[in-house]
Amino acid sequence: MTPPDRLPGSEIPASRVGFGMSRPGRNSAGSATPEEPDNDNEEETLPPDAQVDLSKDRAETGIDDVFKALDEDLVGLAPVKKRIREIAALLLVDRARARFGLSTSRPNLHMNFTGSPGTGKTTVAMRMSDMLHRLGYLRRGHLVSVTRDDLVGQYVGHTAPKTKEVLKRAMGGVLFIDEAYYLYREDNERDYGQESIEILLQVMENQREDLVVILAGYKDKMDSFFAANPGMSSRIAHHIDFPDYTLDELNDIGKLMMRDEGYRFSEEAEKTFRDYLKRRKDQPRFANARSVRNAIERARLRHASRLMETDESVGKDQLVTLTPEDFLSSRVFAEGDGDGEK
Ligand SMILES: Nc1ncnc2c1ncn2[C@@H]1O[C@H](COP(=O)(O)OP(=O)(O)OP(=O)(O)O)[C@@H](O)[C@H]1O
Ligand SMILES: [Mg+2]
Repeated sequence: MTPPDRLPGSEIPASRVGFGMSRPGRNSAGSATPEEPDNDNEEETLPPDAQVDLSKDRAETGIDDVFKALDEDLVGLAPVKKRIREIAALLLVDRARARFGLSTSRPNLHMNFTGSPGTGKTTVAMRMSDMLHRLGYLRRGHLVSVTRDDLVGQYVGHTAPKTKEVLKRAMGGVLFIDEAYYLYREDNERDYGQESIEILLQVMENQREDLVVILAGYKDKMDSFFAANPGMSSRIAHHIDFPDYTLDELNDIGKLMMRDEGYRFSEEAEKTFRDYLKRRKDQPRFANARSVRNAIERARLRHASRLMETDESVGKDQLVTLTPEDFLSSRVFAEGDGDGEK
């Protein structure tokens, strides 16, 4: 699993998200969209009495690999996974309808992902981009992740070029705007963020065949943002809420990350880790799966220092095994001093 951590303005190519599948039929030309049948395939409108095999269509797109990877790589998130399958079904049916000449315009695919930090929003947005690419609704299927600073300038005249440059990079893929509500400052009508919002609104409407915008952030802040920006609200087709992880889920996420990195817990360390999570969850700046990743990274550092300090030779077993002491020296275990990830 690749950590898609916050890289402001970063572009994540489809190849990093993909699963090594070649693109089927209509996707491969790169320009085929449902309302614009691929000329190479000479797709003609089907007669009214024709039949289409939806499960074959689905198999051909390769989206089952996306679902499989979602299930295997991401713990929990059942409601999110369900919504992704629903969107896929909608689009498969839309494609079939287009073949009968029934669809006239492309469905609106702009989305809003709400949830606490580290609940998997960026990761799922990358998978979504891949899925939309496989289904032929995105030309490139990459993801450009930005925040306010990437879109809004400091001086007059700087915002429009900045926003347009970002949009240009995102075309053919997903523009992921983290904490989108910071684009809007209630107390300052002349804030440059407004200018960026206006441009985004236009592009979300006029170029929606070539760009999917996904806004992300805390639910309450996003709700106020939409209340103040009804134009934005009306352009969002899908709202998906990412729940906080339970202790069991955090534990499973930790085990998955350990496995991916080629580490394992000693028997006692597994209990210590769970205890760590239980404490960390109630401390400030807890960030769900991101905190789990950080905890493991710090334990790996302590583990490495510990091994370097021993005079004895070490074997494979020691190189892969984290023990309780690798977690116990964390500040999380210090009485009354719970300030997270140290
Ligand atoms: N359900 C999950 N199962 C396994 N790993 C997960 C899960 N959710 C998130 N992760 C991992 O946790 C880290 C943080 O996830 P991600 O960046 O997608 O969260 P986010 O909601 O975008 O957070 P933020 O709001 O802080 O940007 C990543 O390394 C990701 O791989
Ligand atoms: Mg994120």
